[in-house]
This record gives sequence, C-alpha cells and structure tokens, in this order.
Amino acid sequence: MSTQDYKNQNVWIIGASSGIGSALARELDARGANLALSARRKDELDKLNAELGGKHKVFPLDITNADLTLRTAQAIRSSFDRIDRVVFLAAGYAPMRLDSLDMAVTKGIVDVNLNGAFNLISAVLPMLKTQKSKGQIALCGSVAGYAGLPGGQPYSATKSAIINLAESLHAECKDMIDIKLISPGFVRTPLTDKNDFDMPMIIEPEQAAKEIADGLLSRRFEIHFPKKFTILLKVLRLLPYVVSLRITQNFKT
Ligand SMILES: NC(=O)c1ccc[n+]([C@@H]2O[C@H](COP(=O)([O-])OP(=O)(O)OC[C@H]3O[C@@H](n4cnc5c(N)ncnc54)[C@H](OP(=O)(O)O)[C@@H]3O)[C@@H](O)[C@H]2O)c1
Repeated sequence: MSTQDYKNQNVWIIGASSGIGSALARELDARGANLALSARRKDELDKLNAELGGKHKVFPLDITNADLTLRTAQAIRSSFDRIDRVVFLAAGYAPMRLDSLDMAVTKGIVDVNLNGAFNLISAVLPMLKTQKSKGQIALCGSVAGYAGLPGGQPYSATKSAIINLAESLHAECKDMIDIKLISPGFVRTPLTDKNDFDMPMIIEPEQAAKEIADGLLSRRFEIHFPKKFTILLKVLRLLPYVVSLRITQNFKT
C-alpha cells in the first residue's frame, strides 16, 4: 500500500483513545488521512493529537448518548464538509461467567458495544446516504462473536450482534455506503490486559492497525486477522453443533 493512500480522506475513529483505535489513528495519520478522534477521555485524545502534530480534530463523545452522538456527527460533517469513513471501535469488556453475572457491568457493556453501534448508525446513515461521495461504515466485531465460548459473556454476545448488524447494514445499504466488518483475534490492548489466560496468537495493536487500514481500502466485507487464528474459528462455526459444542465445552478461558 502507498504511504499516502488515505490522503485527503476524512476518517472518524470512535474509540481512538487507546488500544487498536489509537494505533489506527497513528497508522492513518502516517498514510495522509484527516482524522476526527472520539472517545470519552478528551485528555488522551488531545495527547494523541499532539503526538501527531495537532493537525487532527478531537470530538469527545460518550457513544451511549444518542443525542450527543448525533450532534457530534453533525459537528464533524460541518468541520470536514464530508465524512469518508466511520470506524466504530468503542467497546467495554469484563471477563465474566454466566453463573456470576454483574448486571450493572453487563448493562454497561451492552450499552456501549451494541446500543452505541445503533446510536452511531442512526446518526451517520442518513448523513452518508445524502452526501455526494460514497462513504464507509466499519463496525468492529470480534472472533469472540463467531461462537459462544466459556467465560466471554456478555461481551461475546454483543460482538455476535455486531456481526449480524453489519450483515444487515450491508444488505440494506451496500449500493450507497461501503460496509465493513472488522473481526480481530487477540490483540494486546488495555481490553485484553484484563484476561488472565494465555491468549493464542496474540498480536500487537500496530499490526492490527495495518490490517484494518489495508482492509478498509479493499473490496472485502470482512477484515479478519490474524488469519491462522480466525480461519480456525471460522471452521468451528461451520461444524454441526453435535461436534462444535463438544469442542467449545473443553475450551479453557
Ligand atoms: N483487543 C482485542 O483482542 C480485541 C479482539 C477483538 C475485537 N476487539 C475490538 O476492538 C475494538 C477496540 O478494542 P481495544 O482492544 O483497542 O480496547 P481498548 O484499548 O479498551 O479501547 C476501547 C476504546 O473504546 C472507547 N470507549 C469505551 N467506552 C466508550 C463510550 N461509552 N463512548 C465512547 N468511547 C468509548 C475507549 O475510550 P474511553 O475510555 O476514553 O471512552 C477506548 O478508546 C473493540 O471494539 C473491541 O471489542 C478487540
């Protein structure tokens, strides 16, 4: 890929204050993009923008707030004139087992990961449909959404829903908007730092950011990585339950 393949493109990253989102901001900055950086922690976004030379714009946002999400989308469109790509990476995660669910934490995770995605779509879809150039919406799922594994709820259920949502978006809007589904395996970030098990084939956020930056420019619907890991889980999803449930009940997490 060219080092300036995002030149003059306006990209809104939601979840840019840490992990994969901040790595993606650095990668797209290096490739020439104009960035709108969103997440709740303004100080982290300002620090990132300063590191990148202060040329991008910071739009603090709590994605669980539907009104604020709409106002932020409108402010970004006014500021940039058009939005070329919207990348939804915001998420909450807490390791939990179903026999000891913390319902306040569960509601919080569903609110960010799933309701947040609906807030975003409701704000940007009409906007992108009416702008002259074709825009893009990329939603971040996870291989955790491919199959129900032990220890991953409620996060995994929200990621499964994101996969379904991205598929529906594609079915409804693909002629007017380019829809992408991002499906990472394990990536070393503050989110996975909460895990106390060995994460197979874990990669660094910089590698994930390169995969995403390349994938957003490709014609493929799904951007999944690292392939050796994601393909294994895709095969698991294709197996009949009589086989796959025997395998997943033995997973250690
Ligand atoms: N790391 C992995 O192994 C992995 C694997 C598969 C999928 N993913 C997905 O990749 C994406 C990025 O995750 P990550 O690993 O980079 O995690 P991370 O470092 O914890 O980043 C999560 C981001 O979401 C933002 N966020 C959380 N709640 C928000 C809210 N209410 N409103 C707006 N922003 C909010 C956080 O910023 P603030 O706290 O400042 O709001 C932060 O920027 C997520 O969708 C995650 O599910 C990660």
